[in-house]
Amino acid sequence: MTEKTATISFSDGSPALTLPMFEASLGPDVIDIRTLYGKTGKFTYDPGFLSTASCGSTITFIDGDKGELLYRGYPIDELAHNCNFMQVCQLLLYGGLPTKEQNEKFTQLVTHHMMVHEQMQFFLRGFRRDAHPMAVLTGLVGAMSAFYPDSMDLLDAKTREVTAIRLISKMPTLVAMSYKYSIGEPVVYPDNSLSYAGNFLRMMFATPCEPYKVNNVIERAFDRILTLHADHEQNASTSTVRLCASSGTNPIAAIAAGVACLWGPAHGGANEACLRMLDEIQAQGGVEKIGEFVDKVKDKNSGVRLMGFGHRVYKNYDPRAKLMRETCHEVLGELGLANDPQFKLAMALEKIALEDDYFVKRKLYPNVDFYSGIVQKAIGIPVPLFTAIFALARTVGWIAQLNEMISDPEYKIGRPRQRYIGEKHRHVDAAKKS
Ligand code: CMC
Repeated sequence: MTEKTATISFSDGSPALTLPMFEASLGPDVIDIRTLYGKTGKFTYDPGFLSTASCGSTITFIDGDKGELLYRGYPIDELAHNCNFMQVCQLLLYGGLPTKEQNEKFTQLVTHHMMVHEQMQFFLRGFRRDAHPMAVLTGLVGAMSAFYPDSMDLLDAKTREVTAIRLISKMPTLVAMSYKYSIGEPVVYPDNSLSYAGNFLRMMFATPCEPYKVNNVIERAFDRILTLHADHEQNASTSTVRLCASSGTNPIAAIAAGVACLWGPAHGGANEACLRMLDEIQAQGGVEKIGEFVDKVKDKNSGVRLMGFGHRVYKNYDPRAKLMRETCHEVLGELGLANDPQFKLAMALEKIALEDDYFVKRKLYPNVDFYSGIVQKAIGIPVPLFTAIFALARTVGWIAQLNEMISDPEYKIGRPRQRYIGEKHRHVDAAKKS
């Protein structure tokens, strides 16, 4: 088989350069430009990484045009319908679905490490009670790195595995602790008899005053939220975690960097922003006001975007949004909220946007955040905590990606180049110095 190559020609008189190309098992082939600078003295320019693959990965694949998402080759809808989050964690971390025995062992290990060091509560108490949960979570995860200095040995596979278990186990506890603190209720410790999702729901909603029974429908819905958000290729927070960890830093600290990145409204903060948008339309008159709102969105000078719509990679319906829509119906039915005005508003807004030329032309479809906010709110999760739930779910993806990077023989510290467009050499004028 002839090897594929790409040849770049230059209009500035530099000789043409032929570069190797690598095939992908799915998706676009890549042009290997690593020797470009050495051979031509030129960099490539790609702000926002629109055409740049930063790594090779075997974990997640998205076909944005088809609206397809695969974890280790398995379609997300098959996983969402047939596996629980613990199985998905093992798939992402180890590459294959676990056997029954492997699953029991992994689940037990995770469950038995959910409690966090008691001293973490001192860090928690240092925060204002009205602090944004993502600020608190960024701080708590960063603080946790201080408790595990042994995680630093990144080159040791066993250490990396222990760190993965620690993070997956303790993240729900940290999120629930930050919620309890914000409302002035005592922290609820994990209960080893419960599932991962059930345990989190109990730590969130139980009080010492009465027994708490986990609702199976809500537990399943929460487990699905976790599965759907578990990984998503080289998105901003995952790339942040990889870049941060590429220096050899403590992996728990690298995850804290991922939490910080996820906070932004263009990334993990979109479900919170989407719900606020629905509240705003509701306050202005509800379904009748959708037309006016959509006009505002289409007006480039308004600075308003339809939150929960559009995606850098999906130029089709986000497959996670379909599954989340299904869960939304289930949860609202279970809780007797099927006629919830916010849900009806979301459905009407989705219908109008999907038929509008502005959105059709730009291939703007609902993303997972369009529905996940409604589900979370129905479950009782307060809006400011939505992104923290996303962080809890994404932790396994971050750590799987970090581990993949460290094990990659081509791994190097990340160090992008730049196109410098500032002042050329200047000198301080001694006469003008005060
Ligand atoms: N509402 C209105 N117009 C939009 C929207 C939107 N939500 N998204 C994109 N556009 C327009 C944009 O104005 C541009 O129009 P034009 O070509 O006329 O200038 C065109 O569509 C392309 O947009 P872009 O900003 O170049 O696209 P991008 O790939 O850089 O941005 C995005 C992707 C997700 C940041 C953007 O679609 C957005 O801001 N969406 C709303 C926020 C949101 O829901 N984010 C959650 C993403 S899913 C969660 C995750 O995976 O992290």
